[in-house]
Amino acid sequence: MPNVTEKPLVSAALGQKPSRTPIWFMRQAGRYLPEYQNIRKNIEFVDLCKTPALAAEVTIQPLRRFDLDAAILFSDILVPCMALGQEFSIDKGHGPHLFPPIRGEGDLTKLKDTVDVSELDFVAEALELIKPQLSPQQTLIGFAGAPFTVCSYMVEGGPSKDFSHLKRFMFTQKHAFNILLNKVSDLTVSYLTMQHRAGADVVMLFDSWAGNISQDDYREHIYPVMTSLFKRLKNLQIPVIYFPGQGGQQLSVCAGLEFDVLSIDWRLNFGSALKTLDSLKVPYNVQGNLDPLYLLGSEAFIREKTRNIMEQASVSARGHIFNVGHGLTPLTPIESLEWTIDEVRRFKA
Ligand code: CP3
Repeated sequence: MPNVTEKPLVSAALGQKPSRTPIWFMRQAGRYLPEYQNIRKNIEFVDLCKTPALAAEVTIQPLRRFDLDAAILFSDILVPCMALGQEFSIDKGHGPHLFPPIRGEGDLTKLKDTVDVSELDFVAEALELIKPQLSPQQTLIGFAGAPFTVCSYMVEGGPSKDFSHLKRFMFTQKHAFNILLNKVSDLTVSYLTMQHRAGADVVMLFDSWAGNISQDDYREHIYPVMTSLFKRLKNLQIPVIYFPGQGGQQLSVCAGLEFDVLSIDWRLNFGSALKTLDSLKVPYNVQGNLDPLYLLGSEAFIREKTRNIMEQASVSARGHIFNVGHGLTPLTPIESLEWTIDEVRRFKA
């Protein structure tokens, strides 16, 4: 891995202290931006993801408005499920859907035996269009869902309150569930390799539902597949960010996995999370962790909350990437992001 880089985000991800704290926002492209709505009103979400010129345009939109250190590929964690043979759609008001659901061993045959990642070439094409539009200081982030979170959707077929189908599958057919997790993990390695070749400087794994299982179950069912996944991603020789969403209880469990940056959920106190990492002696760099709904507050409130995180980071973080502790919501006012960025830029430890 390079030691010196002109990209502040890559430096921080490698544990250095760049001259400015890098900042970007999870879900920075999306429905809170009128220019996104404008494109989206004429095209279905999945078609937008599959059209490189439009996906690239939507990726760049937030960078035209804000002084951000990174662009994140516009796509979705469920896009690769199409290469496994599932149909993917976003239904208005109901969220993402995958068909057919894979609810047990008997359903595994509904997935393709061999997966051809070139079916997802449109993603590489979008990255190739985005890269030349960035300055040398800006970082291009590629991403995928972590296997457990992707499998949650693959098994449930859509959003779920209690993940009953997923848990029944995991608890009653451990071996078959493991086959499914590993299938997604293999695809993830090929998919992120393709993204790196197409220009991604950093990759991020979203494990948004990691908090929906106990520590013991994470250790038993998820940890082994994540260990091998991160080991294989090391071959890319680029920084890897891991986001265990709602996963406060997984902090100590995932310690030991070989990624570079831990993205911290907004539910955790940033300073306490840093202390926990310190006591576990894991040398992770950190990303986070403003509550995205703080952005609905007043200017003074947003500035204070932003400063709090910067102060906590300045006490004990190694590399720090400022971010929200989960994705921006459609109601986010545009000025709120401007105040947050300004406060990060002004901060002096
Ligand atoms: O961060 C970015 O700007 C990049 C784009 C991005 C999207 N989804 C775009 C999107 C990323 C990184 C994701 C990841 C993703 N998708 C996650 C992990 C992160 C997280 O938020 O926990 C998850 C769990 C998904 C699954 C998913 N896709 C959900 C829950 C939704 C929202 C459904 C809804 O209707 O509210 C989507 C759709 C989606 N993905 C949208 C966007 C901008 C909204 C689609 C629209 O325009 O209607």
